[in-house]
Amino acid sequence: MTQNLPKTHYLTDYQPPAFEVESLFLTFELLPNGTRVTNRMQVHRVKDLSAPLVLDGEGLELIQVDLDGVALMPTQYDVTDTQLILPDVPERFELEIVTEIDPENNTRLEGLYRTSGNYCTQCEAEGFRRITYYFDRPDVLTYFTTKIIADKQDNKVLLSNGNLVEVGDLPNDRHYAIWKDPYKKPCYLFALVAGNLEEVEDTFITRDQRQIDLRIYVEPKNLDKCEHAMESLKRSMKWDEERFGLVYDLDIYMIVAVDDFNMGAMENKGLNVFNSKYVLAKPETATDADYEGIESVIGHEYFHNWTGNRVTCRDWFQLTLKEGLTVFRDQEFTSDMLSPAVKRIEDVKRLRNNQFPEDAGPMSHPIQPQSYIEMNNFYTMTVYEKGAEVVRLYHTLLGEAGFQKGMQLYFDRFDGQAVTVEDFRNAMADANEIDLAQMHNWYTQAGTPTLKVEKHFDAATGTLTLHCEQSLKGQSAHAPLLIPVLFGFLNDDGRALPVRPGENSRNKVFETEKGHLLKLTTLSETFEFTGLSQEPHLSLLRHFSAPVNLEYAASDEELMMLASHDADSFVRWESIQTLALKNIEDNVARFQAGNGMVFSEHYQQAFQAVLEAKGLDPALKALAIGLPDLPYVFEQFETIDVDAVLQAVEYQKAQIAQTFSGALDKAYLAHCSKKAYCYDKHDMAARMLKNQCLAYLAYGAEPVVRAVAQYEQQQNMTDVLAALNALNHLAVSEREACLSDFYERWQQDTLVMDKWFSLQARSESEQALQDVRGLLEHPDFNYRNPNRVRSVLGVFGRLNMKAFHDASGEGYALLAEEVLKMDKINPQVAARLVTAFTSWKRFKGHRQDKMQSALQHIAADKALSKDVYEIVSKSLE
Ligand code: ARG
Ligand code: ZN
Repeated sequence: MTQNLPKTHYLTDYQPPAFEVESLFLTFELLPNGTRVTNRMQVHRVKDLSAPLVLDGEGLELIQVDLDGVALMPTQYDVTDTQLILPDVPERFELEIVTEIDPENNTRLEGLYRTSGNYCTQCEAEGFRRITYYFDRPDVLTYFTTKIIADKQDNKVLLSNGNLVEVGDLPNDRHYAIWKDPYKKPCYLFALVAGNLEEVEDTFITRDQRQIDLRIYVEPKNLDKCEHAMESLKRSMKWDEERFGLVYDLDIYMIVAVDDFNMGAMENKGLNVFNSKYVLAKPETATDADYEGIESVIGHEYFHNWTGNRVTCRDWFQLTLKEGLTVFRDQEFTSDMLSPAVKRIEDVKRLRNNQFPEDAGPMSHPIQPQSYIEMNNFYTMTVYEKGAEVVRLYHTLLGEAGFQKGMQLYFDRFDGQAVTVEDFRNAMADANEIDLAQMHNWYTQAGTPTLKVEKHFDAATGTLTLHCEQSLKGQSAHAPLLIPVLFGFLNDDGRALPVRPGENSRNKVFETEKGHLLKLTTLSETFEFTGLSQEPHLSLLRHFSAPVNLEYAASDEELMMLASHDADSFVRWESIQTLALKNIEDNVARFQAGNGMVFSEHYQQAFQAVLEAKGLDPALKALAIGLPDLPYVFEQFETIDVDAVLQAVEYQKAQIAQTFSGALDKAYLAHCSKKAYCYDKHDMAARMLKNQCLAYLAYGAEPVVRAVAQYEQQQNMTDVLAALNALNHLAVSEREACLSDFYERWQQDTLVMDKWFSLQARSESEQALQDVRGLLEHPDFNYRNPNRVRSVLGVFGRLNMKAFHDASGEGYALLAEEVLKMDKINPQVAARLVTAFTSWKRFKGHRQDKMQSALQHIAADKALSKDVYEIVSKSLE
C-alpha cells in the first residue's frame, strides 16, 4: 500500500548481485493460517566487500535468523516492510531464516496461497518474497531442495520442483516429501503444490529413448477433462524435439490445474501451475477456442523449459527475451498443428485488437520497458505479442535454417545463465555472420510504426518506383527500424508478375523462403524495379511481415482483386477487411454529418465472392466475412465517436444479414454436421464458418429460429455457445429461456459458468448495465476468483462497448467502484480491470470527461496498490 509515492525501477540502474547462493534448502510446515518456512542457504560474497546483505521480503512474520548456526539478536539486523538487512556478514556463510505466512488469507494469489482447499504458489515476477526473505531477482540462481511437511488427511499430494528424493510418515498423522531440483534456477521458478488432488498419468519417450513420466493433477471431479491437455503436452514435447532440437531434461513433468490463478499458467521447473481454464476440456464443456487455447498454453509453458528456464532473464526488463521468444514458439507450434494461414490471421487480429491500442495509449512501452513501478503491470500484450512479432522478424530475415542456427548458438553460449535481449540478438547475428545491430531499435522504442508506401510507374521504361517512409507517432526523429516487407506484383487477373530489382535496389530486395522481401532500413527509402511491361498491383506486407500500420492507397478494385486472387492468405483477408473498414469509416462520417448510411457495392461483391469461392478453407471464409473487431475500428479514429461507430457497425451487420440471408443460410446448412466432436482443423473450420453465418443471421428477419434449434441440439460447447451468442443481443424470451436452461445444466461447473457470466456481461441488450449489476450480486459471483471477476468485469470493460460507454456514464462509475473494491482483494486483477479507462483521452466530449472523472475517483483512494496506482497515475499524466 502506498503511503509515500511508490518507487520507480530503471533498467539503467541494473547492478549485478553482490552475493551468490550456492544452495538453498526450504522446509515448509503447511498450515492454512500459519505456515512455517525455514530457509537455509549457503551464501558467499562476489563483490562489494563492505556491502550489507539485503534480502527481499513482504508480508512475512519473521521468527528467527541464524548466521552460521548462531541465533541473531534483533539488534543485529534491520527489518523493513520490504527488506531484511544484515549489515555485517562474513565472506562465506550459512544463513537460516524462519518466517511464518498465512496462505488462507492470501487473496492476492502471489506467493503461497490456498485454492479450493489446496496449497499452491505463484512466484513470478516477485512473489517469492512473500514466501521467505531472499534475493528475489532472476539473476540469482541456485540449487533448490524443498521439504514439505503436512497433515496427511488433507494433503495426500506434496509436490515441488525437480525429482522426488524422499518421502516418509511423521507423528500426528503427518507426512513429508523432499524434492530436489538438479538444475540451478532463480526463485521465480520455484513452486509448491499440496492437497488432495488426483492425477492422470502418461509417459513420453524422448528421441534419446529416455522415458519421462507425465502427470496432470486436478480436483477429483475434473479427472474426465484432462485428455486433451495430456495429448497437447505430448505433441509439444515431440514438436520441440523435431522443430527446435530441444529435448526435455528431467524425468518427470507435472502440471497442476487450479481454479484461482491470476494469469494463464506458469512454467515452474518440472511443475507447471495452470489456470484450470487452460487444462480442462471435454466437448460438452469446452469450445474450439478453448481447445486451441489449451494446446497453445500447454505448449507455451513446456517451451519455456528451454526458453526461460535453462536460459533465463538477467532482470525483469528482459522479460520479452523469454516471453516474446516463447510466444513465437507457441505460435509456430499451433501453426504446425492446425492451419498456418488461419493462425497468422488470428494472431494479427489479437495484436491489433489489444496491442495496438495499448501502444497508442498512456501505458505504451517498448518491448523492453525502460522503467516500471509494478512489474506485474508489464506482462503485457506489448512484451508478449509484439515481442513475438519482433522474434518473427529475425525468422523472416534469417529463414528457418538461419534462425535455428541462431537458437543453437544461443543455447551453446548461455545455457544455465541469466541473460539479456542483446545476448539473443548477438547469437542470431553471430551464427549467421550478419550485422543485426539495428534490430535494437525495435526493443527500445514504443508505438506502432506507420509504413507509408507510394507507387510510381513509368510506362516508357517499364520501371516501378516504390517510395517507403516509416514514422512513429509523436516522435519527429526516431531511430529507423529494420522493417522486412514481404511483397509481390500482380497483373489485373491476379497473376504474379516478375520482380526485378533495379540497380539501386539489388542489395535491399531478397528472395526468401517466404517470397520476395524488401528490407527497409532508413526513415525514407526508394526501391526500383525494372522490366515491367505493365503497371503491377501491389500485394504488400504479405504474411503481416512486420508489426506496422501500412498506409497504401489501394483502390477498391485493387482490394477486390487481391481479396480474390492474391497468393498470400493474409493479404486476401486483409483486403476484404480494408473494404469493410472503409465502408464503416465512410458511414461514421455520414452519421456525423446527419446523412443516411450506404452499403458499399465493392464490399458486397468481395463478400459474395469469398463466401461462394470454391475450394477456399471455410475457416478463411469465416475470418474474411467477419467484420473488423470494435477495438481495431476504434483505433482508426483520432477521436472516437462511440455512437457513430456502433451505429455504423450495427448497420453493416444488418445489411449483410439482409443482403446475403440466402447465401448465409445455405453456407450454414452446408457446414452443419452430425459427427461427434473432434479437435481437428477441418471440423473446426466448418464450425467456424457455420457459426459466423449464424451470428449474421441473428441480425436478419428471422433471428431466433436457427439459433434456438442449434442450442437445443446440444452437440458440443462450440455450437451451444455460438447459439447463445447469436441470441445474446436480442430482446426475446428465447434468450432468457436458453440462458436459464444453460444455468441449470452447468451450475456445478466453474469454467462453464464463467461463460454464462461473460455472455451476459457482453450483451448488447438495452438492460445490459442493469444485468451486470445483477451478476455482481449473484450467489455464484466470487470476488476471490479471478476468472469469475474477469468474466463479468473484464468482459464488461473490454468487450461491451455499448454498455461500458453508456452515455449516462454509469458504466464508468460502476467499473470504477468495482476496481476500488477489487484492489483491496487482488491488486493484479484490479490493475487489469482499470486498463479499460486508459484510452480516455481518445473519446469524444462528455465520455472523455466522465472517464477522466472515474480515473480521478480511483486515484483519490489513498490506499491504492502500486499496481493500480501506476496505471491510474500514468493515465492521468
Ligand atoms: N511466465 C508466465 C507465462 O507463461 C506468466 C506469469 C506471469 N504472472 C504474473 N503474475 N505476472 O507467460
Ligand atoms: Zn510465458
